[in-house]
Amino acid sequence: MPKILVTGGLGYIGSHTVVELLNDGFEVAIIDDLSNSERFVLDRIEEITGKKPDFFEFDLKDQERTNQFFAENKVDGVIHFAASKAVGESMVKPLIYYRNNLVGLLNLLDAAKDHHIDNIIFSSSCTVYGQADELPIDEKAPIKKAESSYGKTKQMGEEILEDFARVFDKKIIALRYFNPIGAHPSALIGELPKGVPNNLIPFITQTAAGIREQLSVFGDDYPTRDGTAIRDYIYVMDLANAHVKGLKRLLADENVDQYEIYNLGTGTGSTVLEVIQAFEEASGTKLNYKIVDRRPGDITAAYADNTKAAKELGWTPETSLEESLRTAWEWQKTLD
Ligand code: UFG
Repeated sequence: MPKILVTGGLGYIGSHTVVELLNDGFEVAIIDDLSNSERFVLDRIEEITGKKPDFFEFDLKDQERTNQFFAENKVDGVIHFAASKAVGESMVKPLIYYRNNLVGLLNLLDAAKDHHIDNIIFSSSCTVYGQADELPIDEKAPIKKAESSYGKTKQMGEEILEDFARVFDKKIIALRYFNPIGAHPSALIGELPKGVPNNLIPFITQTAAGIREQLSVFGDDYPTRDGTAIRDYIYVMDLANAHVKGLKRLLADENVDQYEIYNLGTGTGSTVLEVIQAFEEASGTKLNYKIVDRRPGDITAAYADNTKAAKELGWTPETSLEESLRTAWEWQKTLD
């Protein structure tokens, strides 16, 4: 079976994707610097799948070490997750974000070029669209100037990869995630936010668990059905599955273009109040929340047109919002 390098493979989406790859029979090597992940996730992956991926602890910014990895390990493809991802933090530490997300990527691509790695999946984000003029958002929607330095690193990463694919004759797929949520059904792996969560779902589950006193709902004066902002919440295992499908497309030479882009979302938008209600139903708990001012930088609404992924990757999300939230809650309960 092909061997796949997963960078950031102990992180949130990375770890769930590693599980899907192993369950599908792929061999997996993980590079992770543990900057925003935990070593125990490796044992949990083994507990779920019965297989232990190779693990290499280092930072992709170390070019020499990155080259050494490729010299010593033959891999057939790369899924590149390793990056910093906190929107707010990127606004106060822009240079760290550019360095982590772009230098790491450049070192990886240099090594991929030298060691003839042809198949690469890149972890991108719907943040590249900003506030789109039309909803749902398809892949042809214009890329607007990103609000955050994090968003800019994803836009630049995509530009770099497009050039790389063309000049060096590589096959690359960029996957633009909408809002990833939930945990593995075993509740052995899930999202592990450090400190106070920025994202809605971990804040909700921590509030329900009594770790946070109250959820702040950022704004109820948006032009939406109930005044709160709309997002497309996609289950992390559905996302993981899309990576495996993308990889198989590249390995089988089924891609039509050298550089392809897919939106990964459910196609349905939910307001913050709808998410709260779905969570209360899924968990059987009542959530303490209050409406506060809008959060600066937030857009009104984003949800995906996912027909391209359905048609070309054969991917359709299978998990409801309620079910995804139930897994997030089961996972949260293991963390108390
Ligand atoms: N929200 C709250 N209270 C909270 C946290 C969030 O009301 O405590 C609201 C936000 O205002 C927003 C929605 O819940 O309307 C979702 O917020 P998240 O922070 O969970 O997600 P975002 O849509 O802001 O950000 C996500 C990813 C980013 C990515 C961005 C692209 O986390 O990595 O989508 O739009 F850049």
